[in-house]
Amino acid sequence: MASKQEWGQSFASASTSAMRFYDEIMVPRMFEPWAELMLDQMKLQSGQAVLDVACGPGTVTRLAALRVGPSGRVTGCDLSPAMLDLARSKISVRASAPTEYLECPAGSLRVPDDAFDLVTCQQGLQFFPDRPAALAEMRRALRPGGQLGIAIWCAIEDCPPFAALADALGRVLGAETADAYEAGPWGFSDSDSLARLVKDSGFTNVKVRRYELPLIFEGGPGQLLLTLRAASVATTLAQLPDADQLALAEAVEEAARPITFDGIVRSHATSHILTAQVGDKRG
Ligand SMILES: C[S@@+](CC[C@H](N)C(=O)[O-])C[C@H]1O[C@@H](n2cnc3c(N)ncnc32)[C@H](O)[C@@H]1O
Repeated sequence: MASKQEWGQSFASASTSAMRFYDEIMVPRMFEPWAELMLDQMKLQSGQAVLDVACGPGTVTRLAALRVGPSGRVTGCDLSPAMLDLARSKISVRASAPTEYLECPAGSLRVPDDAFDLVTCQQGLQFFPDRPAALAEMRRALRPGGQLGIAIWCAIEDCPPFAALADALGRVLGAETADAYEAGPWGFSDSDSLARLVKDSGFTNVKVRRYELPLIFEGGPGQLLLTLRAASVATTLAQLPDADQLALAEAVEEAARPITFDGIVRSHATSHILTAQVGDKRG
């Protein structure tokens, strides 16, 4: 099975407790700062309508809702019931736009045509089984002149904490497991292919920029290791005998040594952020 599908299925069937590792460890340390950066590129205005595709636990959704304010409107869509549970469980801030969450795959969004000023998709497109179909859906949902914002990680070597995890997985569980891990989140890292795909999907004014943001796991390699509980390898890891679990923890510590300082993992992550527009939809 292709690893993109493995990851997609693992999100679809994940438990809320597994996705809590994502929400509690990864969202505040990386996904929220990256969401702010993407929204800065898109220059949201109060009163706008925003659709967040592959919204996960509402990372971009909630920040967009604050930016467009109570006169705006925000919808988050995801195929993972566990992610949506987490998103819905969060209390909205008073100054936020009314927000709804819908369970649906990106290739078949349950939203009307021409209903949104902006569509965002942070670290989701790489997992979609049919990326052109998902982009066609995003275009359908946008009003003429509407804006698209997409973020996708650069190569895993440019996100060193995760390269360390892939290295450790390879040493303990073999290259196939490491490759499958890498090919999900970091499996669509070529900026030219991304730009071409979006242009071919009918968007104009397509710009892809590369950014690097700091990434710190103050809990050290042990905290970094916990992020695998929300990865597609989680089920395999849960079934490992204690000796292999220990070997993996030691391998992560060793692989992360060059980026560990006084017990803290201090590194960075690198992502492409694409912005584009919908022109005249009659063409
Ligand atoms: C790395 S998470 C990103 C979540 C969120 N955008 C954020 O910034 O925290 C990837 C998300 O993509 C979702 N996803 C994967 N395949 C999908 C699909 N085919 N349709 C909709 N969502 C999908 C997963 O359920 C997961 O919530």
